[in-house]
Amino acid sequence: MKVKSSTGLYCLIGNPLEKSLSPDIHNTSFDINKVDAVYTALEVKPEYLEDAVKGIKALNIKGFNVTIPHKVEIIPYLDELDREANLLGAVNTVKNVNGRLKGYNTDGKGFIELLKSKRVKVKNQKVIVIGAGGAARAIAMSLAIEGVKEILIVNRTIEKARTLSDEIKDKVKDITVKYSLKSEKEYAEYDLIINCTSIGMYPDAESVPFDLSLLSKSCTVADIVYKPLKTKFLQLAESRGHQTVEGLGMLINQALLSEEIWLDKTIEKELVLKELVKGF
Ligand code: ATR
Repeated sequence: MKVKSSTGLYCLIGNPLEKSLSPDIHNTSFDINKVDAVYTALEVKPEYLEDAVKGIKALNIKGFNVTIPHKVEIIPYLDELDREANLLGAVNTVKNVNGRLKGYNTDGKGFIELLKSKRVKVKNQKVIVIGAGGAARAIAMSLAIEGVKEILIVNRTIEKARTLSDEIKDKVKDITVKYSLKSEKEYAEYDLIINCTSIGMYPDAESVPFDLSLLSKSCTVADIVYKPLKTKFLQLAESRGHQTVEGLGMLINQALLSEEIWLDKTIEKELVLKELVKGF
């Protein structure tokens, strides 16, 4: 694309950033969606976070993403938070409207929207979340906000599963939240399972986080891992006849949701995913 004086600038702030896929995702999307903008990654050390936010305001940068280690620490420098960011206490997207900064969190919402686009029902469903770290927390909280009936958190460290379970119950009403270590019992009544751990991620590509034979065939199987594109967990699920949802789709969706917030318009996502898959 040609950079002109009218070209908008968007960016990611975090540290370190050399492995981030965000510039590739957003610039591909700007190209496909014909948005006159460029996206870059700016490494910001923790001691410069406040100065960086002031600089963004001074330069009138209209939107940016936030990643590790600033997702929580940025909050005092923002003027307003949306519901998701407020419940999670973490921000991954900021919109600048005339110098007023509003924080959002699209980490879980991107996943929910992807499910919807694949006609996977969420409301009143029973869901298993594997893992209790940052990714599990964002996804579980979004599912809770979206109105799932029950969440079962399965985690290697039971204490972390309990903490997350208590937090969700505390913040969202009318929901059942359970937690467990892996067990041999049946999970046939669950409608959706999501791997929110790094199990199965390259180079550990032969590992699987859950025994699929415990699930009913109607259970949708999703994975946040996107390297490899189709994890062993998803390959096995597919061969057993489950509907599957890939991690790269989730990653791209949460990124493109940020664009929709910044630009106030619907962004074409399928073509962006197709283009990015080619480079994988
Ligand atoms: P993220 O922010 O990406 O979610 P995280 O906060 O470090 O990363 O959380 C990683 C999650 O994957 C945790 O639930 C972790 O389990 P523990 O709470 O027991 O540490 C889980 N995890 C990572 N590697 C795992 C493995 N080999 N087996 C089981 N669980 C694993």
